Amino acid sequence: MKFIKFKNEQESSKYVADLIVKKINHNPKLILGLATGSTPVKLYSLLVENYKTSTHPKTDWSHVKTFNLDEYIGVNYHDAVSYHSFMAKNLFNHVNVNHHNTFFPDPKIDYDELIKENGGIDLQILGIGANGHIGFNEVGSPQHSLTWLVDLVPATIEANAKKYFDGNIDLVPKKALSMGLGSIINAKEIILLAFGASKTEAIKKLKTATKFDINFPASFLVNHKNVTIIVDEGVDVDL
Ligand code: GLP
Repeated sequence: MKFIKFKNEQESSKYVADLIVKKINHNPKLILGLATGSTPVKLYSLLVENYKTSTHPKTDWSHVKTFNLDEYIGVNYHDAVSYHSFMAKNLFNHVNVNHHNTFFPDPKIDYDELIKENGGIDLQILGIGANGHIGFNEVGSPQHSLTWLVDLVPATIEANAKKYFDGNIDLVPKKALSMGLGSIINAKEIILLAFGASKTEAIKKLKTATKFDINFPASFLVNHKNVTIIVDEGVDVDL
């Protein structure tokens, strides 16, 4: 696992946005694994900015395919709080991605099979929960799980209530479909982003992890050969 620290969220996100643009220019049929949450918002805005301003070459998303990590259950896709809406608002509506090429876990499809049929994920972007959860793979998630139905733990429900539902826990969906740790590990390359002091403990644990620990889902990354962890100075860890 490689750790890189940048000054702030802007510089970290710029590094990743530039990398993604380079990969798309090199391989117009890039398969991207995408995450939601506040962490990748800046990255998506920089990708939008690049799309609007790039010329020679103009970044072309028309053949790129995207697979999102997770989606709530019991929320209409058009609802503002769905991850479909989040991605549309932050990225998909502003670049020339073909909407038929953007995928989310769905109870009606075998998501892992679909990813495999498309050749697998080239680059997976991840955030991390303060307790080390990845996607919605909470503490106790098995290492080899594929896309599955999960119950959100109270801490995640509370965090999401604060961020997206004006603190109202009753409004937060309690279940989600999430790519499993066993799905994510198949990506050819993984970049995990973590910004701010609230991620310090999780990154400290990840830095010292040597094997998978079911109590710390992010530790599954020790079993992948091409992982980069990108943090900002708010994350108080010596790297
Ligand atoms: C949610 C998402 C995760 C995300 C995590 C951290 O639970 N399902 O994919 O990584 O929150 O969120 P944030 O980036 O807002 O800190």
